Amino acid sequence: MQIAWTKELEIGNELIDTQHRMLVLLLKKLDIALKSRLGKKVVMGILLEFKKFTEFHFLSEENLMAELRFPGLVEHELVHSNLLCQLNLFIAKINREQEDPEEILQQLVFWVVNHVLSHDMKIAEYLKSSTYRPIAEESYALYIRTFD
Ligand SMILES: [Fe+2]
Ligand SMILES: [Fe+2]
Repeated sequence: MQIAWTKELEIGNELIDTQHRMLVLLLKKLDIALKSRLGKKVVMGILLEFKKFTEFHFLSEENLMAELRFPGLVEHELVHSNLLCQLNLFIAKINREQEDPEEILQQLVFWVVNHVLSHDMKIAEYLKSSTYRPIAEESYALYIRTFD
């Protein structure tokens, strides 16, 4: 399975795109740890890192949607909370050694890609035509590294 950031995943908001890159990077880290057989403690540590960053990211996205008065905010928040429930279940299964971590990793990659393309993309579409702007958007260039 290929875990890599691709241009197709870019939604056009640098703050969110940077966070999405970090999510993909953490999955790459998990992949390397599993392939290197680094053990359950390391794997659980990375999963916790992924979970904490996902929680942070979802909050960032929800704040952005609120700043933009995005009409799909409530629905999107619900999707986020369902994903977090699923993530907690995945982590518990790995902890209890009830599931192959490689299998879970594949599901997490699918989960991130699918969510970005089918839900987060809608925020980006709305952002293009909205007169409301993200807070500190004019500071992005100073604080967020941009890739071309
Ligand atoms: Fe989202
Ligand atoms: Fe997202």
